[in-house]
Amino acid sequence: MARGGRMASLLQFCLPHFGVKSIWALLFLTLSIPLLVESRHCSRRPGQKYWDQCCEGRDDECTYPIADTVCYCDAFCNRTIHDCCPDFWEYCRGETRPPEYTTPRPIQVICQDNGDYYKYGTVLKRNCNTCTCVSDPMGSSKYGSWSCTNFACVLRPEHINTVNTQNYGWQSSNYTFLWGLKLKDGKKYRLGTMEPGPSVARMTSLRVHVNEILPDFFDARSRWPGMIHPVQDQGNCGASWAFSTTGVASDRLTIHSHGGINDMLSPQQLLSCNSKNQFGCEGGHLDRAWWYMRKTGVVEENCYPYSSGQSKIKGNCMVRRSAMHTRNIRCPGNGRMTKSVYASTPPYRIAPSEREIMKEILDNGPVQATFEVKEDFYMYKDGVYRYTNLARNDPPEFRDTGYHSVKIIGWGLDLSKAGEPVKYWLCANSWGPEWGDDGYFKILRGTNECKIESFVVGVWGKVNGKQVLKNRRTKRRLRHLRHIRKRYRLLRHLI
Ligand SMILES: *[C@@H]1O[C@H](CO)[C@@H](O)[C@H](O)[C@H]1NC(C)=O
Ligand SMILES: *[C@@H]1O[C@H](CO)[C@@H](O)[C@H](O)[C@H]1NC(C)=O
Repeated sequence: MARGGRMASLLQFCLPHFGVKSIWALLFLTLSIPLLVESRHCSRRPGQKYWDQCCEGRDDECTYPIADTVCYCDAFCNRTIHDCCPDFWEYCRGETRPPEYTTPRPIQVICQDNGDYYKYGTVLKRNCNTCTCVSDPMGSSKYGSWSCTNFACVLRPEHINTVNTQNYGWQSSNYTFLWGLKLKDGKKYRLGTMEPGPSVARMTSLRVHVNEILPDFFDARSRWPGMIHPVQDQGNCGASWAFSTTGVASDRLTIHSHGGINDMLSPQQLLSCNSKNQFGCEGGHLDRAWWYMRKTGVVEENCYPYSSGQSKIKGNCMVRRSAMHTRNIRCPGNGRMTKSVYASTPPYRIAPSEREIMKEILDNGPVQATFEVKEDFYMYKDGVYRYTNLARNDPPEFRDTGYHSVKIIGWGLDLSKAGEPVKYWLCANSWGPEWGDDGYFKILRGTNECKIESFVVGVWGKVNGKQVLKNRRTKRRLRHLRHIRKRYRLLRHLI
């Protein structure tokens, strides 16, 4: 009798699980082969005797796993229909299973998150990681646990909190457009400037003696109203190399032409067409970008609008080089014809000196700067940024850094909480106006924070081959530049 009950329970249990294979179970049954293993549940629970394996009263932990669920071996399962293990009756009670229990339907393993319950196998996204509801490794509870991936994310709520509650001098924020992004993808899609190679880094810069007293505060937007172009958004494409290049070129062209030309130059053209030894949305070299700006030049943004922020790829070059030279260009954006091509003179490097960089911005406008983006920079909101190193105890992938380039448009002084002056550079990023302080950020000045002062570049504009020069000093400086170039071939690597 007892044996027959066990067989029947096995069959009941096998049917839904094995489908057509149940025919084999039937076959086994008719051959009277004793099938013990699959029907033993309560009897296989850890414990010496049945009173350890079968529990009195209600005990939610008193279970045994069946496939992706569990069944119960406590006396309470007698009351709530369908969740007793198939051998409960026989093994724990020494009785035949009553007929209403012929279809055991064990309850599902569930996982909790924020007070909600999720069934076995549910996949949830937590920031840049995914978590799956799995049965717990011992298989002894109906409560499963979440098994999660462990990628480093761009936004770390605990660091946002620490930065905002402690005295780092800056505030951080949670950005919807960066939420869920892995740090390695932040580096890949939000930055995009190659670290200046040894040849470029060795390039000697112009030395200027700065004797004059420089102001405490300077903002190119106040000095040249309406001539500094708005913050741009590179989207999900590592093209800061193109944005910082056309950004600085646009501002300087406008300043040096006294507002006569006020077009935003097209980063898309640089990105799509300057492809030799460049990596498109996966980064580019600034020296090669300036080479293209000098040799070919670009049209304005309205003529060749930016599209790679969505597509994540640089796309084909839509203007022919020959058309650029004959200045008969069909605009990829709207099909209009244009003759306006904006090129630049050779760029020049400014010495890695705080005062020389200040002087250059004061005289000639925004400069291009390369710096190292550390893992906490993405979370910047306002204040004067400096590296916090909050991830110092995490594995190296949580401290992944990348190179980026931006426009420095000015400088200033903030007061720390203790009342000390804190010097900063005022920079325009290319992550749109939602990020940071309306798209801008301040970074510690004078200490080469994240190498921001190491590689700074300036340039003059050219429209259709004619140089746009501002004043005598600028001309003198350009002559000086040509002179040292000839003598020492110093800029050979850059231009
Ligand atoms: C449990 O099952 C047995 C046998 O079917 C029955 O006599 C008993 O009343 C049931 N209920 C409880 C609460 O034990
Ligand atoms: C951050 O923003 C995302 C998207 O808006 C949101 O889902 C998430 O809960 C926020 N995280 C914190 C810690 O506020």
